[in-house]
Parts: sequence; structure tokens; C-alpha cells
Amino acid sequence: MQFFLDTGSLEEIRTAQAWGILDGVTTNPSLVSKEGMDHKALIREIASITSGPISVETTSERAEEMVAQGREYVTWAPNAIVKVPATAEGIKAASIMGKEGIRINVTLVFSPNQALLAAKVGAYFVSPFVGRLDDISEDGMQVVRDTVQIYRNFGFRTKVLAASLRHPIHVVEAAKAGADIATIPFKVMEQLFKHPLTDTGQERFLADWRKLQAELERKKTKV
Ligand code: G3P
Repeated sequence: MQFFLDTGSLEEIRTAQAWGILDGVTTNPSLVSKEGMDHKALIREIASITSGPISVETTSERAEEMVAQGREYVTWAPNAIVKVPATAEGIKAASIMGKEGIRINVTLVFSPNQALLAAKVGAYFVSPFVGRLDDISEDGMQVVRDTVQIYRNFGFRTKVLAASLRHPIHVVEAAKAGADIATIPFKVMEQLFKHPLTDTGQERFLADWRKLQAELERKKTKV
């Protein structure tokens, strides 16, 4: 399973890259707007940190404008993946850009039918949003499970990118569902490392080790 970081923060991307677990980055207009930086400059900076796929979202409701933006985004970085919404205009734009060899991430996916549409136009990624469905008392992860099953039934090559993940259990559930990728906010990525028994176990190992060193030192000075 691949791990993408769901962020526009260069600091977070650098940290995850240094951990050695970063396979790519997803951005969206809300995440980019938090950074207060020119869109192109930000994406180019991200591309200087990771060679993995970087999802860059279009910001129009019209297919023609999405296509124009997408064509520009792929000139910013060779690893840019163009994000379009799962609307009729978004799917139309995905179909046009796909024929030009531009890799597409169909985002804002909330139903298996939307995921099916994304696969039919040859999207590279499909992004079912788990947390936002949970927020309205629906089972967000079921869309991931259904999408994985439908894609397997027909041999669709579109990769399932579980998005809007809000806590570590979402990552486990997405992995169990067979999602190809989890895009994870930085705070959740940090939580993946955490286990209280790891902390206390490591503390005890180091304390025992220090005790042994002190004992050996004492024996050495006695001789
Ligand atoms: O990048 C899209 C998605 O992951 C957004 O997550 O938490 O805003 O629903 P969230």
C-alpha cells in the first residue's frame, strides 16, 4: 500500500520524506490556500522534494477550463496528476485529458457509481472521501470496499486512493479494504508510529543498557 501525504505544507512533506515512507502528495484548493503561496511555486517546490505523484486540483466548474488548467499543471512538474471533481464536467475533462496522456485523479467521490465513471474514462486515481461520509452518518469506508470490488470484477486499472482519512483506524480499514493508496494528513501519519508499549519497551531496553554500561565502567575502574 502506498502512503501519500494530504497536505500543502512543505515542512510536513520534508519530514515524511525523511521518514522514508512518502510515496506521493495530494493537495486541494483548501490545503493550498493555507500555505499563502503561489500555486505553481508551491507545486514546483513539492516536486523538488518528492518524485512521487503530486495531485494538483483544478478550480473550475467547466470542463474546458479544467482541461486548460490540467495542461498547464503538467508543465509545472512531470509527476503532476490533475485532479477533477466527479461531476459530469469533471468526467468530461478527465476523458479529454486522458486521451492526451495526462494522468487524472477523480476527486470528491462519494458513491461507487462515481468511482465507476472515473474508471470508465481511464482515470489514474479515484479518490473516495471516507471522513466526509462518516461526518453525515454514512459508512465512508463502504465506498472504498465497493470500489475495490467493482474494479476487480472488471479489471479496471484505476488505482483506489482512499481520501479524507481522519484517524489511524481509517488507514487500517483502507488497507484491509484493498485500497492501493491512503492519502493521510500529517497528524494521522505521526499517529501511525505511536504505541504506548513501544515507548515503555524502548525506555526499559535503554535503561537496562545504561545500567550494564555503568556496571562495566565500575568494574573497569576497580581493576
Ligand atoms: O484531499 C482531499 C481529502 O483528503 C480531504 O479530507 O478531511 O478535508 O475531508 P477532509
